[in-house]
Amino acid sequence: MNNSPSERDVLSTRGIPRSYYEALFRETDGLKKELETKSVLSSCRGSILATVFMEPSTRTRLSFHFAMVKIGGEVIDFGPVEAASIAKGETFEDTMRMIDGYAPDVIVVRNKVPGSAKLAADICNAPVINGGDGSNEHPTQAMLDLYTMQKIRGSLDGAKIGLMGDLAHSRTTSSLSYALDKFDNVSIFYIAPSELQVRSEVVNALSHAHVEKAETYENIIPKLDFLYVTRLQKERFVEPREYERLKGSYQLDRASLSKHSKLPFIMHPLPRVDELNPDLDTLPIAKYFEQAKNGMYVRAALLKQIVSASRSS
Ligand code: NCD
Repeated sequence: MNNSPSERDVLSTRGIPRSYYEALFRETDGLKKELETKSVLSSCRGSILATVFMEPSTRTRLSFHFAMVKIGGEVIDFGPVEAASIAKGETFEDTMRMIDGYAPDVIVVRNKVPGSAKLAADICNAPVINGGDGSNEHPTQAMLDLYTMQKIRGSLDGAKIGLMGDLAHSRTTSSLSYALDKFDNVSIFYIAPSELQVRSEVVNALSHAHVEKAETYENIIPKLDFLYVTRLQKERFVEPREYERLKGSYQLDRASLSKHSKLPFIMHPLPRVDELNPDLDTLPIAKYFEQAKNGMYVRAALLKQIVSASRSS
């Protein structure tokens, strides 16, 4: 498999070519099939994944954990930040150097500081996967998002995707934008109140995708194959009153969608707060739990690829 151009670390989707996703998704399909008949495989037997989550996580941490166990490896989790020496003032750098000293085969790191995964990769000998660095990037979320879209639509070429919500603070939509840009004739509609619109650094990095911006989804919905919704990133607001003001500024439910005859597939990285009403969950267009489930298989394929590349080097 063609690894990311920045070699073994997975820090960003910016430089990842489409051939990488194509190979990763073939591997994902293969593992998925094998796991239909066996509960645990042996591809990564004897390998250790270290998970270091310094911001809350449910899906990313758990799906990486399940993924490594399913392919025969072991996982050591850093545990809650409050229980670690970070709480005594130890630096991120010292913590990463120490964990790397225990010689894990791969490390997943999540931290609120943009650029922290790159910093960890510079320090560590083990390959580092960015599990989310502040509002910057979340590359493995983009991988599972693309995988889910491709399964539904057959191809990503020509896809029309609405990215809606707190785009200003979102790391999932930036990584997803860079990844979508590698496919042909993709249209991305950034849908958000002006205060939450996509960061210019994200749009400026795109070289292929057709880009439009809108404040509301009403007129955009009929054009879309997928509507990807994100929550308001409360923890990234400097001013709590600003969060309260914008809370509820975009919400989807059955009633709001009922005026449209053609509906896009609804996606969401989760967790949701109040932007996606649970009354949508039983609709066949609701794909967010499928995304979360796919995450385990895509991450298993990624871990397998990284571990086998480092074993053979
Ligand atoms: C996302 C994240 O952490 O960026 N969650 C996830 O990994 N599935 C989205 C979010 O927290 O809003």
